Amino acid sequence: MTFFPALFVNLKLLVIYFYRFCCTAELLNCRAILTMIPKRALYKPPFVKFLDQRLLPDKIFYVKAKNAVQTAKAIKDMVLRGAPLIGCAAAFGYAIDLRFKKPSSWNNLLKQTKKAADILKKSRPTALALFYAVDRLHKKNLNFINEHKNKPFDKKIYAKLIKTIEDEAKKITKEDIDSTAVMSAYGSKLLKKNSIVLTHCNAGALATMGMGTAVGVITAAHKKGKIKYAYASETRPYLQGARLTAWEFLKEKVPSALICDNMAAHIIKTRKVNAILVGADRIAANGDTANKIGTYSLAILAKHHKIPFYVVAPIPTIDLKLKTGKEIEIEERGEKEVVFIKTQRIAPKGVKVRHPAFDVTPASLITAIITENGVIKPVNPKNILENLNS
Ligand code: MRU
Repeated sequence: MTFFPALFVNLKLLVIYFYRFCCTAELLNCRAILTMIPKRALYKPPFVKFLDQRLLPDKIFYVKAKNAVQTAKAIKDMVLRGAPLIGCAAAFGYAIDLRFKKPSSWNNLLKQTKKAADILKKSRPTALALFYAVDRLHKKNLNFINEHKNKPFDKKIYAKLIKTIEDEAKKITKEDIDSTAVMSAYGSKLLKKNSIVLTHCNAGALATMGMGTAVGVITAAHKKGKIKYAYASETRPYLQGARLTAWEFLKEKVPSALICDNMAAHIIKTRKVNAILVGADRIAANGDTANKIGTYSLAILAKHHKIPFYVVAPIPTIDLKLKTGKEIEIEERGEKEVVFIKTQRIAPKGVKVRHPAFDVTPASLITAIITENGVIKPVNPKNILENLNS
C-alpha cells in the first residue's frame, strides 16, 4: 500500500475509534435510564424470574422457571419477548437447567444438555439472539467437557462447570446491557434537534436487559433535549406498542402519543414525523431485516415521505449465514392472539386467520443500521461485514 491510501485508512480507523470512545463515555449517563423500568429477568437460583410482560402495564408479576422446559414455555407464551431479551432469558434457562441435572457421566451430561439446548431453540424461530445465546453456552459446555473428560466425573468438577456456564450467561446479559447503551449513544447522535419520531412494537428496555434498542435511542435523545414528540404504534395483534412502548414513554417522560397501526401514514404526513426507528429480530447478510409485522409498511411510508428509516440492533442479530431476507424463518403464531384481545373475542367463531408475527424489510428501504460497533450506512453486505469486524 502506498503512503497516502495507508494514511487514509489509519485516519479513518482513528476517527472510528475516537467516535466509539465518545459513545462509550456516554454509557454511564445512559445507564441511569435503566432504573425506570422493572428488571426483566433475575437469575436467582433455584429459579430464574421473568417479569410477566403479558400483565403489563397493570401488574408487576414475576414468573418463575427452574429449567429449560419452563424457560422455553415462558418464551413461547410471551411472558417475555423482544429479541435481545429472549437471548438473555434462554442463556439463564440453559444455566438454571444445568444446576438441577443429575448426570451420571460426561456422556450422559452431553446428552442432557443437548436436549436442553434443543428445547430452548424450539421456543421461537425468528430472533437470532436466542440461537446465538444457546449455541454460545452449549459450546462453552462442550469445551469444558473436552478439557475435563479424562478426569473422573464428580460433584466438584460439575460445580465448576455450573459456575463456568452461569458466568457466561451473566456475560451475555452484561454485553446486552452495554450494547444497548452504546447503540443509544450512536443513534441519538443521528437525530436532529426537535425530532418527531415514530417507533413500532416494543424495542425498549422491556425487549432487552438494558435500555432498549430503538426506544433506547429515543430515550437517550430525549435526555439530550432532542425529541419534540414520539409516536408509538399499537402493534396489532399483540399490542406491544400500546401496552409496553407507550408505558415506557410515560415512565421516561418522553412527550408522546399512542396511535393505531392504520394511523401511521396520516400521522407521518400531518405531524411531520422526521424519523422512524425500529429494532430487529434477524438481519440477513445483505441487510434485509426481519422485525415485528408492520415494520415493512412503515419503511415504505418512510421512503414515500423521504424521511430516514433506522434499524437499531446489536451484533447478535446479524445472520451472515443467510444471504438475503428470503431465507429468514417467519414465525406464524396461533390465531387466538388475532381473534381475541385479552379475553374478549373480536371476530366471529370459525373465521380463518393468518398470523405472521414478523415481516422482512428490504435493505434498500433502510437508511442505516445502528449496532454497538457504529452506524452502517449505506446498508450493503460490505458495510455490514466491515461493521461486524471492526
Ligand atoms: O414478538 P415480539 O414481541 O418478541 O417481537 C419483538 C419485536 O419485533 C421487536 O421489535 C424486536 O424484537 C426488536 S428488539 C429490541
